[in-house]
Amino acid sequence: MIRINEHYTKLKASYLFSDIAKRVNAYVSAHPAKPVIRLGIGDVTEPLPPACVEALHAATDEMARRATFKGYGPEQGYAFLREAIAQHDYAARGCKIEADEIFVSDGAKCDCGNIQEIFATDIRLAIPDPVYPVYIDTNVMAGRTGPNADGRYAGVTYLDSTPANGYVPAIPTVATDLIYLCFPNNPTGAVATKAQLAAWVAYAKQNQAVILFDSAYEAYIRDPQIPHSIYEIEGARDVAIEFRSFSKTAGFTGTRCAYTVVPKTVVAYDAAGQAHPLHALWNRRHTTKFNGVAYPIQKAAAAIYTDAGRQQTKALIDFYLGNAKLIREAVQSWGFSCIGGDNAPYLWINTGRDSWEFFDLLLSQAQVVCTPGAGFGKCGEGHVRISAFNSRENVEAALARIGAALR
Ligand code: MLT
Repeated sequence: MIRINEHYTKLKASYLFSDIAKRVNAYVSAHPAKPVIRLGIGDVTEPLPPACVEALHAATDEMARRATFKGYGPEQGYAFLREAIAQHDYAARGCKIEADEIFVSDGAKCDCGNIQEIFATDIRLAIPDPVYPVYIDTNVMAGRTGPNADGRYAGVTYLDSTPANGYVPAIPTVATDLIYLCFPNNPTGAVATKAQLAAWVAYAKQNQAVILFDSAYEAYIRDPQIPHSIYEIEGARDVAIEFRSFSKTAGFTGTRCAYTVVPKTVVAYDAAGQAHPLHALWNRRHTTKFNGVAYPIQKAAAAIYTDAGRQQTKALIDFYLGNAKLIREAVQSWGFSCIGGDNAPYLWINTGRDSWEFFDLLLSQAQVVCTPGAGFGKCGEGHVRISAFNSRENVEAALARIGAALR
């Protein structure tokens, strides 16, 4: 008799953003005359930068000619993209990352979700709360947790992000083996200082642990004191894997291109205590299960690093940060405290009210979609996340509607 992976039965019935989409679609069907503005899921709205579009067209033309046509590319990504990433995202910041330590993929979500496959099932996890649900859900699926009770899975060390700690979790007092960190944070928009990240690197070294550092939103950092990469921290090359994405940097949510950095110096141990480089394990996994990102898409991604591409992506991010500023000012005028939005595209609003109720209020009274904080974890209760990804016109309209609804 065929059997299911019973760890799936520990999960909530559906993924957070699918759940929200269902509720929103039900509202839209019932109220077709009331247009809804979506500031929920962090999905970009503005078109690709012209430099990326030109590169995409040119690469598509190459695929149309026998002499320049390409079949399978290297699973890890074309050298032109890996070298551009190594130079612009790492060498330029003083980080020693080689091009062959970079694995190009079709999304940071997939990479963050898949990376846990290369670790043992019985390791100890440290996972933030609130958190991007992919980190915890993929570990539940793999059987690394016990059942969920009262919004928390047994066996996980939760890293609470609360108003009391400025939404930057403290280092745990117990030893853990695999630590998920995300800065600028999704969902809170909080950022971590060099000193805070250095403390995590020291903790990981002390515990022979590995940090999975999600910096998908680093391009939104405007404060020059805030690190963009964990590799800006001395010693991080020995203990950290980093995830990056072009989704929010250059509008690639629908185009799909991201990358993961696995330095050759990061190791994990077998049962006999022998160290194994994770680069080799991830390379084995990647080449077995992935056949590379489409050539035209990688060409479009590489165009981000040209002079024109850099100017255009900066303008795009400045635009979304402009939205975030408007949202922050409005939120404060409504009397709520919030963080984020200055070095991140998300604002995390402390409403002090049940987060799903607040979500329903905004949907039914203002026709605006936000993300209820409780969907990101127990510590998210009392909060909602508002995303800055939308047109200026829609953001202004949404803020006017919410203001009126709250009055
Ligand atoms: C979010 O809204 O948290 C993100 O857009 C989801 C994602 O990147 O998968």
